[in-house]
Amino acid sequence: MAKSQTSGVIGAGSLGNGIAQVGAQAGYHVILFDNSQEQLTRATGTIQKSLGKLAEKGKLKDTADNVGKLIKTTTRLEELKPCDFVIEAASENRQIKFKLVQDLDALLNKGVVIATNTSSISITEIASKTKRAELVAGMHFMNPVPIMTLVEGIRGLQTSDECFKTVREVSENMGKVFIEAKDAPGFAVNRILMPMINEAFFALQEGLATPKDIDQAMKLGCGFPMGPLELADFVGVDICLAVCEVLHRDLGDSKYRPCPLMRKYVEAGWHGRKSGRGVYVY
Ligand code: 3HC
Repeated sequence: MAKSQTSGVIGAGSLGNGIAQVGAQAGYHVILFDNSQEQLTRATGTIQKSLGKLAEKGKLKDTADNVGKLIKTTTRLEELKPCDFVIEAASENRQIKFKLVQDLDALLNKGVVIATNTSSISITEIASKTKRAELVAGMHFMNPVPIMTLVEGIRGLQTSDECFKTVREVSENMGKVFIEAKDAPGFAVNRILMPMINEAFFALQEGLATPKDIDQAMKLGCGFPMGPLELADFVGVDICLAVCEVLHRDLGDSKYRPCPLMRKYVEAGWHGRKSGRGVYVY
């Protein structure tokens, strides 16, 4: 996909705004959609701050202002009609994602690829909700998107080679390293990461150590940049639970059962940094 083309991003949460930003950094015109104007306003502030930091370090090819101007925001999905490529990064909820890809399929021009940033839902199933299953693929970014180098690419059962090539090309244009994972629950990253985070919650539940010491164990003992509980708060405890539930349901092994304490935190609204309270208080 040529850099002057237009890319749509659905969802202005932490992943979506990061994807819009790296898209603009790559030179794409980006239309960022969210049904909440408040979320879009917050996303614009986050993007400006991040671009400012990167510009200060000389990591942008253009000024932060010029890169920022490549991103237009909208609360109207119809405005994505001219897009040449769309990345769906809405909430990790099956029904929301299914409805969105259906609407996009009806809206977008023939031949346009719909990439989904799901962290665990089957790409094959998401694709099946459209009439262009061969043009749907997984494109899994990591948080914080402007800093983390990986994009995990996932082929659904019907994803065409050409579609997958486009997803790889767009990822690489965005400065990311692309790996290919199978369309299996959690793909590669979350299949390994989420059981570790879940285990950290079990350790906390059992009183094995304090939250801070559990995090220190993995940071100082294993060289992780963040401890697993800190990372759960960063990613969103609700997201971690959603992924653990998919792993448990779809792999059918009790070793993936979500920790009851994690579930309690989500029930309490302790979703992590974004809600002001998770394992830690912000
Ligand atoms: N934009 C621009 N710059 C940013 C930034 C952003 N969004 N976020 C951080 N930075 C910069 C900071 O300004 C800082 O720059 P400096 O060194 O020049 O001052 C540098 O990055 C380091 O940031 P901090 O000093 O704030 O803090 P850390 O050193 O702890 O780094 C971190 C922050 C990069 C987030 C690091 O803690 C980290 O790598 N954590 C692990 C993240 C991770 O595992 N992500 C994957 C999660 S899994 C996922 O997303 C999948 C999903 O499906 C669940």
